[in-house]
Amino acid sequence: MTAGTVERYSLIDCQPPRQDTVQEVLVGLSRTPKHLSPKLLYDADGSALFDAITRQPEYYLTRAELSILSGIGTDLESLVDSDAVIVELGSGSGEKTRHLLGMLPTAPAYVAVDISATALDGALDSLADEFPGRRFIGMVADYLAPVALPPEIEDRPKLYVFFGSTLGNFEPPEAIEFLHRMALSLDPDDALMIGIDLKKAHARIHQAYNDASGVTAAFNCNILNRINRDCGANFDLEDFHHEAEYQPEHGRVAMFLVCHRTHTVNVAGVEILFDAGERVTTEYSYKYSMDEFYALARQAGFSPVRSWTDSGETFSLHYLAPDLA
Ligand code: TRP
Repeated sequence: MTAGTVERYSLIDCQPPRQDTVQEVLVGLSRTPKHLSPKLLYDADGSALFDAITRQPEYYLTRAELSILSGIGTDLESLVDSDAVIVELGSGSGEKTRHLLGMLPTAPAYVAVDISATALDGALDSLADEFPGRRFIGMVADYLAPVALPPEIEDRPKLYVFFGSTLGNFEPPEAIEFLHRMALSLDPDDALMIGIDLKKAHARIHQAYNDASGVTAAFNCNILNRINRDCGANFDLEDFHHEAEYQPEHGRVAMFLVCHRTHTVNVAGVEILFDAGERVTTEYSYKYSMDEFYALARQAGFSPVRSWTDSGETFSLHYLAPDLA
């Protein structure tokens, strides 16, 4: 920063070291079936591709969530402490945040936690322009690891927000564990607002993860570019294609990279064999009914306070309070 410029937002780097990424990739690829951690999807290119996914006609989730958000301003103002700080996990492009900050005009500060520094920079830069007078902090971090907030933020009431049905990207036991850890770390005057995609006609879900323009496919395949770059691997993207299927017995979309031919790939000096037709799991997206989600939240130590859905009941937003019983 040059002398004389006013700091409009601050970035705190709590990024996992590169060696951790290499280890995680090698562990995932030595499992049967092979698996890659979904957070690897979100490098700078991946975050931009995900942003493009949210604009695809088939990807109803973001539009539904935004439509719910835009109708709950009065409800929210009555639920949220007027001096509460907003802490968003996995903030991405910050589009939903814009609505939230508009609805909560007295929230003094906004903390965004995201694994992509580029996404954080872009989002905070435009939000700081739009909402002068508020404090903006970006934390480059994996929100799966407990994130220590700056002390002056920690002491205030906090509204945590976790949009985009990202909780659905955890397997249910992990989702419970994650929420449980949060419930334990929240103060009595903190709350969590979370977006959850709902169960619906299978074809509609399938299409959302198989958009006709191939943006989701590009997003999924980009994980291999990222591993090539960060782990010194030699994946050829021509050897793999995207596949996503709704598995009703699990209530989830499973996303894979399917290998076309038997060959070995070198990852950080280790030769890994891929068979023709082998599927590498990259991410799940679990869908819940309202009751399934309430049960999960309660099991994790939260009390559902208010819930909202869009008119088509495709998506839900939940305002949860930590259970202190
Ligand atoms: N949270 C998003 C979801 O579950 C993530 C996502 C959307 C995703 N499309 C994807 C992850 C394609 C991997 C591949 O909808």
